Amino acid sequence: MSGKREIDEISGVEVTGHEWDGIKELNNPLPRWWLYTLYGTIIWSLGYVVVYPAIPGLTDATKGLWGWSSRADIRNEMNMVAEGQKAITDKISAMDITAIMADPEVRAFAISAGASTFKVNCVQCHGSGAQGGPGYPNLNDDSWLWGGTPEAIVQTIQHGIRDPIDPDTRITADMPAFGKDGMLTPEQISQVGNYVLKIAGLGNDEALATPGAEVFKANCASCHGDNGEGKQDMGAPQLNDAVWLFGGTLQDITHQLNTPRHGVMPAWEARLGDTKVKELAAYVLSLGGGQ
Ligand code: HEC
Ligand code: HEC
Repeated sequence: MSGKREIDEISGVEVTGHEWDGIKELNNPLPRWWLYTLYGTIIWSLGYVVVYPAIPGLTDATKGLWGWSSRADIRNEMNMVAEGQKAITDKISAMDITAIMADPEVRAFAISAGASTFKVNCVQCHGSGAQGGPGYPNLNDDSWLWGGTPEAIVQTIQHGIRDPIDPDTRITADMPAFGKDGMLTPEQISQVGNYVLKIAGLGNDEALATPGAEVFKANCASCHGDNGEGKQDMGAPQLNDAVWLFGGTLQDITHQLNTPRHGVMPAWEARLGDTKVKELAAYVLSLGGGQ
């Protein structure tokens, strides 16, 4: 090829000299601005590699001159949030639950803090909306096994229910296994089962429920109350309502009479501390209304 390049007739652009079956390649170099941007980003990335963690090793990466890490970043951010919240969490730790519920600003903070602690620690048993399930009470309603006053709810969360470790846990005489231990005959069990259906306002066999009333008075009223209204100091549920822990069919009730269950809820104070317990109580109170 001579020193002077051939010019394409149609476009007026210089050709490179590459040719395939008569098709010639035009010499259109990259625009200057594009090329300088490319060089710029290469230089930028070299600087980046020097100051930031960049080159991976087997277990770690190079640290970079600035020592930056995303973990430290999050830690700083969390410290800043905690710093910002310190004033109000200090208040919560110094106040009792009644005072917390009476102060609108503190109450609002405690409820939202309690809601996020609830999501981590409580939903696996009580459900994401605290709606409960068989054996796990619904915390949205106004029916309480162990009491719905602010103090009662704090105590329940602090020390749990039948917790095997906490010495101050809520515990009373368990419901006897009337069927399994032969304390009542199968006939008496179906009588008292029908009586429970009757006081709950559900369909029942009157011929069985009438003698069932006597069985109830003799065997059940000491814990569940004369009219089945329940006793919160014993954790014995109200039976003359529509709220059931284990279910309200004759089959469910007979099951509880034959082989009673004794619900266990862990104690939380040792794990979460007093402030978080109060925040949780504020959240639970905001759901059920409490007493
Ligand atoms: C391992 C399952 C479990 C977890 C986790 C759990 N609970 Fe419970 N909770 C129970 C059971 C079971 C009962 C009912 C015990 C009974 O039958 O008396 C209960 C009862 C309660 C009660 C009393 C309800 C009433 O009617 O008196 C409150 C309040 C409560 N839980 C709040 C919480 C909070 C707040 C958390 C999270 C910090 C939590 N629970 C975590 C199982 C659990
Ligand atoms: C020593 C006290 C005690 C006695 C006596 C007792 N119960 Fe209970 N009962 C309880 C407790 C406590 C529970 C709740 C168990 C739990 O929370 O896991 C319960 C639960 C129940 C439930 C389930 C309620 C629900 O909401 O699902 C029924 C039904 C019941 N008892 C009926 C009876 C009947 C009928 C008798 C008499 C034959 C009786 N109980 C005697 C303490 C007692």
